Amino acid sequence: MEQIVIEGGVPLRGAVCVSGAKNATLPMLAASLLTDGVSVIDNVPLLRDVATAIRLLECLGARVHRSDDRQLTVDASEASSQEASYSLVRTMRASVLVLGPLLARFGRARVSLPGGCAIGERPIDQHLKGLEAMGASVRLEHGYIVAEAPELRGANICLDVSTVTGTENLMMAAALARGKTLIVNAAQEPEVVNLAEVLQQMGATVEGAGTDTIVVEGAMALGGFHHSVIPDRIEAGTFMVAAAITGGSVEVCGCEPRHLSALIGKLREAGVRVQAGEDSVQVEGIERLRAVDATTVPYPGFPTDMQAQMMALMTVAEGTSVITETVFEKRFVHVSELLRMAADITMDRHSAIVRGVEALSAAEVMATDLRASASLILAGLAAGGQTRVSRIYHIDRGYEKIEEKLDGLGARIWRT
Ligand code: EPU
Repeated sequence: MEQIVIEGGVPLRGAVCVSGAKNATLPMLAASLLTDGVSVIDNVPLLRDVATAIRLLECLGARVHRSDDRQLTVDASEASSQEASYSLVRTMRASVLVLGPLLARFGRARVSLPGGCAIGERPIDQHLKGLEAMGASVRLEHGYIVAEAPELRGANICLDVSTVTGTENLMMAAALARGKTLIVNAAQEPEVVNLAEVLQQMGATVEGAGTDTIVVEGAMALGGFHHSVIPDRIEAGTFMVAAAITGGSVEVCGCEPRHLSALIGKLREAGVRVQAGEDSVQVEGIERLRAVDATTVPYPGFPTDMQAQMMALMTVAEGTSVITETVFEKRFVHVSELLRMAADITMDRHSAIVRGVEALSAAEVMATDLRASASLILAGLAAGGQTRVSRIYHIDRGYEKIEEKLDGLGARIWRT
């Protein structure tokens, strides 16, 4: 089994480029199912989850072609299957994003329920509630959601929780529904805005993306699109923490600083020097950071996808910080691994109380989910000695060549 090996203690220096966002690419790929036209996506990251999404599109009958390293062309004109199988959905929950597009285009979709997840229960009741409001009948059959609607019609949908993929699924369904759909308490994440731009290009009218109320006016038929994926704000944030935790100085290039405001604020509070440019951020760590508290909330607040990395940083800060998770309340699988590296953390319900230690101690640790793996690599960069992270297939789901990028910053890191 592959491992990532890190010999910590080297302050990172230099510049690193951010790839396209995984969580913006996946909904765009799903949106390509809404049309029998050809869609072209630029700035696509080379990730396992993207490969899984491509496999899913191909199983549905679409033809996907990688024109160059970063560009994908999808031709879904001959897509005919409406079924997303358990074997694909269980490896990537975001496969549920094909539910809205399949139902809207073919009048029927059969998509496996994802099942358990390391970071929490992650129900999809809000996706289903919204589709029902648009006139779909939804039932559960042998582990699969079966949704049917000869024609979807616009509806007023008030989400009980702000859900990112839920909002995206409903926007895509609404883009081919008759009339106007209002989504209240919509997710405001930049990835939702990126998808709205795509749906607009396809011929739907979308207003309010990036706010908590989105209005979609459906079209009778949608055309193909040619659009670019936004930079990955979580990858950018992970490199920013890498600079801070090693006391280094790193320029994170090709990012969108506006999307990183909550993290930049927290890092500055902790004493990290952060300078934001137009499409880059310069981050300089200091000898010993101050402990700061952080609570995860939907965008534009502090992201749950940066919680584990922030916790790794706080393990070596001066003082005690309280990290509270409100989005996925069980998203603390990294805590027990950080403890193996001599971090001082106790759990109190949905909060981790992190007492900063002078130094972490390298250890063999195991990745348990994507962002947890990132936090272990960060801890390894700071720890004296050799850290070995196993089960790294988790990291390959969402970080493109992370060890090569860190190596470029001077880290002693390699894959065995
Ligand atoms: N929720 C419900 N019902 C629903 C949908 C969600 O109760 O029908 C709850 C969830 O259980 C959770 C909260 O709402 O407590 C927010 O979940 P959300 O639906 O927003 O999460 P998601 O759409 O499944 C996306 C990202 C995640 C990211 C979350 C939160 C994608 C493909 N995934 O997941 O990314 O953590 O939003 O920002 O966009 C990651 O990249 O590592 C990752 C997990």
